[in-house]
Amino acid sequence: MSDPLKTPVVRHSPSNGPTSPDVWGIYEPDTGSIQYICADPKTRKAALIDVVWNFDPKNYRFSTESMDQVLDIVKENGLIVEWVLDTHPHADHVMASAHLKERTGAPNAIGALVPDIAAIWADLYNLPDAFAPTRDFDRLFAEGEQFSIGELEVEVMLSPGHTLGSVSYVCCDAAFVHDTLMQPDAGTSRSDFPGGDTDALWESIQSILALPPETRLFIGHDYGTKERKEPMWEATVAQHKSQNIHVKDGTRREDYIERRQTRDTTLALPMRILAALQINLRGGRLPQVEDDGNAYLKLPVNRFD
Ligand SMILES: [Fe+2]
Repeated sequence: MSDPLKTPVVRHSPSNGPTSPDVWGIYEPDTGSIQYICADPKTRKAALIDVVWNFDPKNYRFSTESMDQVLDIVKENGLIVEWVLDTHPHADHVMASAHLKERTGAPNAIGALVPDIAAIWADLYNLPDAFAPTRDFDRLFAEGEQFSIGELEVEVMLSPGHTLGSVSYVCCDAAFVHDTLMQPDAGTSRSDFPGGDTDALWESIQSILALPPETRLFIGHDYGTKERKEPMWEATVAQHKSQNIHVKDGTRREDYIERRQTRDTTLALPMRILAALQINLRGGRLPQVEDDGNAYLKLPVNRFD
């Protein structure tokens, strides 16, 4: 039998009524990422969230099977893509944003503090002029900004901690909370990347858990657990509050912070981070090809512990 954690998995979380989106989660097994389609059941307008451009770090090759799969689901369900969204510049996978913008004609967007993240990484790569989020994204959403998917309202919630400028997208009874919470049996996301902040992550998670208890929270990653060998990505605010092993009701802030920081010291850098951020901070574009017609990435050495 195939290993469910090593297989693409698609699940539909149905709309709960006219003001509740249909959500498809599409699990990408190489990086344990969950990509989402959030659609208005009435108008069929949809946003694509955190879609992956597959990158094989052994052969330094890109392929498009994940975004192809997402666009197939869009087509099968008669959806019209209105937005290409990312929650933050991902460290573990390359974003499909630029490709999807080209393939769908929809605008791409990310959080308003991404220029500050770009400044940190421009220094780490010594690429002072490479990243210009205002050039590579059509919208940079600030805290509290609103936009719509069809007739559904979306509110942008700044939720820093994993990065300094991550955002969550709250669409009625669904919230896309990326790398803040993991599933209740796995806890929370790491906060040790440059610009990360455990204290800020705690605050962001508290704001997410203050949403109505029935809100469906959709997370950015799942790797299973010792006991659970299949990927999961949806749980309600109420489930996190009663069961999340890192932040359930009654957890003291200082205990969470100590636990998170202790765990973070044991984690290596994600395998794709130095390629991914260099591309993601360009909105998912490779660097300009050089005079031989090839694109090249730059790798800082001895900059990370
Ligand atoms: Fe991330």
